Amino acid sequence: MEFDRRIYNFSAGPSMLPQEVLEKVRNELLNYGGSGMSVMEMSHRSGTYQRIIDEAEANLRELLEIPDDYKVLFLQGGATLQFSMVPINLLRASRKADYVLTGSWAEKAAQEAGKFGDIRVAASSKEAKFSYVPKLSRADFRPDADYVHITMNNTIYGLRYNCVPDTGGAPLVCDWSSGILSERVDIGKFGLIYAGAQKNIAPAGLTIVIVRADLIGFAPKDAPIYLDYGIHANNGSMYNTPPAFTIYVAGEVFKHLKASGGVTAQERRNREKAGKLYDYIDGSRLYRAPVAKEDRSLMNVVFVTGDEALDKKFVAEARAEGLAELNGHRSIGGMRASVYNAMPPEGVDALIDFMRRFERDNARA
Ligand SMILES: Cc1ncc(COP(=O)(O)O)c(C=O)c1O
Repeated sequence: MEFDRRIYNFSAGPSMLPQEVLEKVRNELLNYGGSGMSVMEMSHRSGTYQRIIDEAEANLRELLEIPDDYKVLFLQGGATLQFSMVPINLLRASRKADYVLTGSWAEKAAQEAGKFGDIRVAASSKEAKFSYVPKLSRADFRPDADYVHITMNNTIYGLRYNCVPDTGGAPLVCDWSSGILSERVDIGKFGLIYAGAQKNIAPAGLTIVIVRADLIGFAPKDAPIYLDYGIHANNGSMYNTPPAFTIYVAGEVFKHLKASGGVTAQERRNREKAGKLYDYIDGSRLYRAPVAKEDRSLMNVVFVTGDEALDKKFVAEARAEGLAELNGHRSIGGMRASVYNAMPPEGVDALIDFMRRFERDNARA
């Protein structure tokens, strides 16, 4: 292998987990809490496991201040399955839903929903290569829409909603895969939030759904059983075998986040990390961040040199120094530094130091 140490991994997901959590998981791997077995081997119906999942849910509720009338579901299938489950469960009276397009994940969500109902694009920044979040008001949404869907943080283009849009009453559904737990958000403003775990929470394999209880129970009778939120809500996410080990790791990440000051402190650290990077990029002559300043993601910092060959050289040389996965998404190229919760500030400092040296060595005349 190339590295005999842990490196700074800027991957958009799966991505870095807190080292303390990895070490705790390693220490508990063979014998969890005196059970004589690994959580990987444990029945999800055991008392020990029930405590693990209950504690994980309680800590997530505390961290995000989830109101009591919301259910938390631990599911599988990734955010991609939610692109289907959301319309299957939430399209009801009008069978209409409005989607805001801020990138390819939003487009995919809207496309999938189109199989199930009357889906309209309420606003889009596609014409500007998704470089901003459209300004939204009630007038943008159909008054009888069953729900409105947004992608809170766009992982690929690196943009984020800096406020929660007013839908005028339609439940707001949000894909928060690449932003969950990174900043304080009023959960009560949403009807449903979903997030794949593999960025800020845990290894891949777990999808978290936070849903207002009154929106549950309306899946069509002939819907496949796994796709009905009601089944999962009524069975404590244990209708079938849950992604047990991943939920355990998620629970350890929640404990770690609580111990390090909760979401408020994490948001401050995230703003500092991303702020430093954007400030450096904005002040440099070689790099440019294409996203409108007020809509820039705290998690995925996208930048380019404007020269594809130079971008490739940047990514390769950075990797050789142990700054990995800095290439932009395969659909847009350039660079992307994903600085999720677990990226330490030292990783950002090391990246800026590299960028400075690369700029000096590759300065254009
Ligand atoms: C915002 C967003 N939505 C959806 C997805 C797809 O998630 P999954 O691979 O868990 O289905 C991703 C993956 O990176 C994402 O970033």
